Amino acid sequence: MENIKSYIDKNKDRFINELIEMLKIPSVSADSKYKADVVRTAEFVKNSLVEAGADKVEICPTPGHPIVYGEKIIDANLPTVLVYGHYDVQPPDPLELWESPPFEPVIKDGKIVARGACDDKGQVFMHIKAFELMMRNNSLPCNVRFMIEGEEEVGSSHLGLWIRENKERLKGDVILISDTSIIANDIPSIDVGLRGLSYVEVEVTGPNRDLHSGVYGGAVANPITILCEMVAKMKDENNHITIPGFYDDVLVLTADERAELNKAPFSLDGYKKDLHVADVLGEAGYTTLERTGIRPTFELNGIWGGYIGEGAKTVLPSKAYAKISMRLVPNQGSDKITKLFSDYFTSIAPKSVTVKVTPHHGGEPVVTPTDSIAFKAASMAMETTFGKKPIPTRGGGSIPIVALFEKELGLKSVLMGFGLDSDLIHSPNEHYGIFNFLKGIETIPVFFKNFTELSAKK
Ligand code: BES
Ligand code: MN
Ligand code: MN
Repeated sequence: MENIKSYIDKNKDRFINELIEMLKIPSVSADSKYKADVVRTAEFVKNSLVEAGADKVEICPTPGHPIVYGEKIIDANLPTVLVYGHYDVQPPDPLELWESPPFEPVIKDGKIVARGACDDKGQVFMHIKAFELMMRNNSLPCNVRFMIEGEEEVGSSHLGLWIRENKERLKGDVILISDTSIIANDIPSIDVGLRGLSYVEVEVTGPNRDLHSGVYGGAVANPITILCEMVAKMKDENNHITIPGFYDDVLVLTADERAELNKAPFSLDGYKKDLHVADVLGEAGYTTLERTGIRPTFELNGIWGGYIGEGAKTVLPSKAYAKISMRLVPNQGSDKITKLFSDYFTSIAPKSVTVKVTPHHGGEPVVTPTDSIAFKAASMAMETTFGKKPIPTRGGGSIPIVALFEKELGLKSVLMGFGLDSDLIHSPNEHYGIFNFLKGIETIPVFFKNFTELSAKK
């Protein structure tokens, strides 16, 4: 432990400055105008891995953005940790709400402010620096492989094929991921579940062209109105989703399991104050932690149509659109839910319009084991560095590759993240605490040591 701490102490300014360099490259995977920057970020990751001491470092092209691979195999008889993360980031919009430009990182109140600071560049970089530390201190206790991708924020659509084609070099005993959050800096936690996702876009078409809303209004269906009525039908007065069959596969937790989940420290008042809302709103009969952790949702992510420019235009539009995401829980399946939605949505459309449903990406929900060596290694590592045993929690977000790894490689993941829900990931002014960044670098080598020792005892 002392070795780890003194290495971090001596090098922390350099670590932060290097992370700042990585954050300056706008690796927005969703927007093709950043394609070259995404590649530059992959090169940055590659160079960092090489400098830290990794072997066989390679930028692997995919039909989308590249995957960076690297490894350090010290002994085939020792266990292997596969580190996964993503170097791509969400679009920075809306730009005007940033207090400093998203790709010009600044340090403010002990936090690094930039797009990707927490999700996930800062957390990926912790792993590279922890690896560097173990290499320099001669304390790497087992084998390690890195797989850092550039398409997580757009659904990891090319990762599945790449995994299937690279099974040999992805052989390992566990996947270690830092892409989630802890409850608070003095309340460590480990996510033991993530929700799945079914993302669709809908298009409602009324008349074949935009019409004068005076000449035709009142006699022809307005697709915006119809779309609003249709999405309003998706939930009842208890905020229960009305899509037939939607809940059929939902794994119902026992009263004990629910009680356990609700034991996690959580202040509803603090939550409401933070969000400036007078009250929360969600499915009747469930607490806020349950609504985000173990229950599926139906959310509109965007809705548009008609005239939204300056001033007024009296138009009865031809089309209206919405982007919709449904978060899924065990044992729901994203293909099935997408189909159930599509069938229901189409069935409730009046004859006066036509609807088109386009599925986007999906992802399956997961629950990670808490009785595994890897979970114990992570829990003990956090207990050592935070001085408190971490609490198992259910994360509301999705990392679809976790289920994919299980399916394709038969490998379970440990979600040892160090962010905070207040880090504003995906929002303007995203940031990552320097405390969290350094705590991650300190904890990761302890995980490696624990995992190697516990594996030997097995
Ligand atoms: N790192 C997040 C997921 C996350 C954040 C999980 C916090 C738990 C706590 C990840 O980068 C992400 O944003 N995932 C997307 C899904 C993806 C398919 C676009 C999400 O959850 O919306
Ligand atoms: Mn992420
Ligand atoms: Mn994200």
